[in-house]
Amino acid sequence: MGLQRRLRPAAAFLLAGLLCAAGVLPSSGAAAADGTRGVRRPPGDSMNVLFIVSDDLRPVLGCYGDLVVKSPNIDQLALQSVVFQNAFAQQAVCAPSRVSFLTGRRPDTTRLYDFHSYWRAHVGNYSTLPQYFKENGYITMSVGKVFHPGVSSNHSDDYPYSWSVPPFHPSSEKYENTKVCRGKDGQLHANLLCPVDVAEMPEGTLPDIQSTEEAIRLLKMVKEKNSKFFLAVGYHKPHIPFRYPQEFLELYPLENITLAPDPDVPKGLPSVAYNPWMDIRRRDDVQALNISFPYGPIPEDFQRQIRQNYFASVSYLDMLVGKLLNALNDMGLSSNTIVVFTSDHGWSLGEHGEWAKYSNFDIATRVPLMFYVPGMTAPLSHPGDRNFPFIDLFTQVSTPLPQGKPKEMVELVSLFPTLAELAGLRVPPPCPVTSFQISLCTEGQSMVQYFPPTKGEHEKGRSEGEFHRPPVAFSQYPRPGDTPQPNSDLPLLKDIKVMGYSMRTDTYRCTLWLGFNPSNFSVDWNDIHAGEFYFAESDPNQDHNMYQSEKDSHFVKKLCRILEH
Ligand SMILES: *[C@@H]1O[C@H](CO)[C@@H](O)[C@H](O)[C@H]1NC(C)=O
Ligand SMILES: *[C@@H]1O[C@H](CO)[C@@H](O)[C@H](O)[C@H]1NC(C)=O
Ligand SMILES: *[C@@H]1O[C@H](CO)[C@@H](O)[C@H](O)[C@H]1NC(C)=O
Ligand SMILES: *[C@@H]1O[C@H](CO)[C@@H](O)[C@H](O)[C@H]1NC(C)=O
Ligand SMILES: *[C@@H]1O[C@H](CO)[C@@H](O)[C@H](O)[C@H]1NC(C)=O
Repeated sequence: MGLQRRLRPAAAFLLAGLLCAAGVLPSSGAAAADGTRGVRRPPGDSMNVLFIVSDDLRPVLGCYGDLVVKSPNIDQLALQSVVFQNAFAQQAVCAPSRVSFLTGRRPDTTRLYDFHSYWRAHVGNYSTLPQYFKENGYITMSVGKVFHPGVSSNHSDDYPYSWSVPPFHPSSEKYENTKVCRGKDGQLHANLLCPVDVAEMPEGTLPDIQSTEEAIRLLKMVKEKNSKFFLAVGYHKPHIPFRYPQEFLELYPLENITLAPDPDVPKGLPSVAYNPWMDIRRRDDVQALNISFPYGPIPEDFQRQIRQNYFASVSYLDMLVGKLLNALNDMGLSSNTIVVFTSDHGWSLGEHGEWAKYSNFDIATRVPLMFYVPGMTAPLSHPGDRNFPFIDLFTQVSTPLPQGKPKEMVELVSLFPTLAELAGLRVPPPCPVTSFQISLCTEGQSMVQYFPPTKGEHEKGRSEGEFHRPPVAFSQYPRPGDTPQPNSDLPLLKDIKVMGYSMRTDTYRCTLWLGFNPSNFSVDWNDIHAGEFYFAESDPNQDHNMYQSEKDSHFVKKLCRILEH
């Protein structure tokens, strides 16, 4: 089965060889393997973990070079972190992505491509990242959306396996899809665009505000108990609906909001690759626009408003992350807590005429990913140091930020081994070719090898015989057929007929859409429904599909066949 085989060292070496032979990989590309392993901080220190995961956040942040979005608190974290510029999710939809990175296995091993199965019952009794910390003496806690709720985490967020205490869900979450957004007619609707007066909301609050309060309460509790902790905080924003405190809209005057650089459906886009953004269409304010299925387009003014409301939701998220980090700092915990910030996948804001996730494009798969490790990515702080003062978004003056490193392609499936290594726990062994019976192994690879070497470290070099996979990120996305249908965004397992396997290197993205049989999970590599190939440098937005172009055909197909291994 594709992906497991693909990760064998032999295949990866083949890939490196082929890329070099093809002249695609510049010699400096091999520098990825040059990092030194091992955590550079005094051994014996016990590090806590604060794992912050946002929902549907693409890297529109100051620390990723975005010039529009105001995110000073996350940027402040980034300045003290290792910030991966090219991190990718394994499937651009919530539950499959989360189950993948929380178990350290790819969707072909969790066999979760939709929302409707629980891996422990359906495929294998895989250990999870929080479970591993729990079994190593940590108190593990979940606040908000960490696992996707429902069947995919056995209606319990995988409690008690993953968590020491029952997971917390904000009570006001249940209003997300109810009629609480005031429209231009003065009536309440279930809108996509939903800036609100928080005081007027049911319960007078919003889910992410409640989650922040609960996370701070839990930090105080573990601080008093003096216990080692792994606290996962899952924010709901910027996931739709854009329900957030209305003052954040003021940060983004509509006249300053541009359309996506490529707002049209590209000519060479195979129809199987397109996602018709059904969840957007279902909102009251979008329904009223009478947008044609499947290609739209959405009126330009409304496109701008979607972008504006997404950016405002990101700033609202930034404010809450700032409060949480400030509290961590106030409690003296920022000197012995690793902070990870990431998202489950990206989101298309009109690029290729698409909205939402549900695709294999960079815009849907690329995520922010940063690791703050005291004593390693930032100087060891002392009690009383203020390294995370809260920054008020409404008064701060933005300054250009240096672009972070590293630039290697990395994958969220690697979070599990990376956090294990950073916390000084044994790194789970690599999974063998079939690993359904094995409870503890990982299909990812620790990213610590890509952390920029600290002083004196580069002389050591990497240990002999250690295998380093070339920097490649894999993603996949299922479809029920070759043309957009109402269930193309999120087909049920039984309806999947085509699987799009995608691979991103530093120079290109290739996606092959292949026949898939959901009854036995088999992929037919001879049944190619469509192909996509984009050069990273000349076509960063992925609008010019080169897969069929005659000139490059042989070369392109050769590069894409690597996916098979
Ligand atoms: C899922 O939850 C149910 C009910 O809470 C429980 O009986 C069952 O054992 C759980 N499944 C697994 C695989 O743990
Ligand atoms: C699955 O793993 C958990 C935790 O490691 C263990 O408690 C449980 O008994 C296992 N279940 C089965 C069916 O093996
Ligand atoms: C909007 O654009 C104008 C003109 O470029 C600029 O002066 C202003 O600062 C912008 N406003 C915001 C809030 O970015
Ligand atoms: C919606 O659009 C279709 C064609 O695109 C048109 O026939 C129909 O009358 C429109 N309905 C409304 C309510 O505007
Ligand atoms: C999967 O099932 C299909 C039809 O049921 C069959 O043609 C195919 O050979 C099977 N593939 C594998 C790998 O068993």
